[in-house]
This record gives sequence, structure tokens and C-alpha cells, in this order.
Amino acid sequence: ARPVRVVVLGAGSWGTTVAGLAARNTPTLLWARDPNTADEVNSEHRNSRYLGDRALSPDLRATSDIAEAANEADVLVVGVPSHAVRSTLSEISNGVRAWVPVLSLAKGLEPGTRQRPTEVIAECLPGHPVGLLAGPNIAREIVDGLAAASVVATQDDRVATALQPLFASPVFRVYRNTDVLGCELGGILKNIVAIAAGMADGLGVGDNTRAMVLARGLAEMTRLGEAMGANPRTFAGLTGVGDLIATCISPASRNRRVGEALARGLTIEQTLAELGQVAEGVKTAPTVMELARDYDVEMPIAAEVEAVVAGRRTPAEAYRGLRRVTPGDED
Ligand code: 13P
Repeated sequence: ARPVRVVVLGAGSWGTTVAGLAARNTPTLLWARDPNTADEVNSEHRNSRYLGDRALSPDLRATSDIAEAANEADVLVVGVPSHAVRSTLSEISNGVRAWVPVLSLAKGLEPGTRQRPTEVIAECLPGHPVGLLAGPNIAREIVDGLAAASVVATQDDRVATALQPLFASPVFRVYRNTDVLGCELGGILKNIVAIAAGMADGLGVGDNTRAMVLARGLAEMTRLGEAMGANPRTFAGLTGVGDLIATCISPASRNRRVGEALARGLTIEQTLAELGQVAEGVKTAPTVMELARDYDVEMPIAAEVEAVVAGRRTPAEAYRGLRRVTPGDED
């Protein structure tokens, strides 16, 4: 049988990394908006803007022609930032064959619609099986060959079972989950907690405080997820607490770096300019607070992060805000 061809849209750090994983198993094409990035992947097997000198699989091919890329796909992976999923897919909506499964890598909500990336994909490419790949996956560690695990979440377990071996390797274990909502929300909500964790470290808090932020952050992620219909147990897995820990402790996390920079006194504009990449939690924090109000769920950590990102509060004030005690406080 002809091998399954994987096409990854988006040559940021994670899109490139996932394409590199798939290229070891099956013919894989990476679409980069920037033709120089595509050339560099093809000729030097590197993506220096996002992954420095790290070597990618020599089998990975890249193109800057999105129509060519979409035409080839037996499996389509969407690795652009959440706010760009709709506009990117609008460029190819006639070019994907029927039944091609689509996997999202994005971990944010679309501003305005408040939709998760899989919901945006389902609207743009109706009739396709849609799922996601998520977990504690700091891109550069995976390119370096350090062991990691991830989850393919699809409503129909047979789809995940078919996709699993395309990404797996002896050092990259791929699990399955049918709770698409819970898995997707875990990856999205932990970015906001990671900004809080970065602020905490920037302020020089103790380890007890850091543990408190993680534990209470997980509690509010789970609370919102359950109110929205997710299985609360999902948040105890790789896409929940797993991704939360990796993102809160890794110096490479963009969201965590945003929190640290804010704690150093930078404005959000200066912080994002210094980062030079997308930190999904920044745009997603206000949207999550809208959801928290709609579902009547308390999210005090997300509320503080949203206030700091919006410039209404400093990180030090945000941490002082945690002193507020309410009679209803229960762990
Ligand atoms: P950021 O680098 O965007 O903070 O994300 C890390 C991540 O999602 C790891 O799984």
C-alpha cells in the first residue's frame, strides 16, 4: 500500500518538531509561510529561527506553497497559532480531499468566537474527522531526542489508533484519549497558569508558593473543564497536569517567559517584543475569563493573570491579591 502522507501547516517550533517526528515514519511535508524557512529545511535540515542549530530529519521536506501542501495530505496537522487557524485554513478549503483527518497542535482559544482550535477546524473543513495532539511537549527537547509522551485525542478511537503510529518513536510515546474537549482545554488553560508561575519565579517566591500555584491552577482548570462538559479525570493526565508541570517549570516555555518578563517590570508590549514568538496564554486569558463568567466558575489565578496582562495590575499586586480569603475557600 502507498504510505500515508502527513502534511504539517506551520513551521514554528512545534509544527516543525511534529513534522520531524512524522518524517521518521512516513513521507512528510512541512508548509512554512516564509520561503526562506522552507529552503533552509530542505537544504540544511534546520529551522534556525525557531530551533537554532538542531538537526531535523533529513527526510523532512518543506514548501511555502500551501495549495501544493494541502493537495498532498492524507493526514493534515494544523500547527499555526490559534488566532491564525481560520485564516490559514481559508487559504486551502477547496484543496483537502474528503475524509482526510485533521489534527490540531494549537493551544489557545480564538479571540471573539471563543472557539477551541478543533471547533474552528470543524467549521472550516466540515465533514473531516478532527482531533488534536497535546501533552507536555517542549519542542526543543523532543528535537534533541529526549524521551516524552503525548496524546492523540479524537472522538472516534479508531481514528486515534490509526494516527498513533505516525508520530510515535522509541522515545516518543503516543497515548489515545476520546475526551477531545478535556484534552484540548488542558493544553489551553495551563498556559495561563504558566504565566502565573513565571511571574512567581520572577518575583522570587518560595517553593511552597510555586506548588500552590500549580495545585490551585490545576483546580481551576479542572473546574472550568468540568463545567464545560469535560471529564475531570482528563486533567489528571498528560494533557492536564502533565502539560501544566512542563510548561510551568521549563525555562523554554514562552508562556512562562512572559510571566518572568512581566515580573521584571516590562510592559506586555515590551515582553512580547522581547519574546518574538506567540505565547498563547496572553490572548487566551481574557477569553477564558469570559468563559469563567458564563459558566459561573471561580478562577482567581486566571483573573490575576488577565489583570496583569491587560495592564490593570502589577505582578506584585497580583500576588498580594492572593491574600483575599473568602469563607467559601475549599481545596
Ligand atoms: P509554550 O512554549 O508556548 O509556553 O508552550 C509549551 C507547551 O505547550 C509544552 O507542552
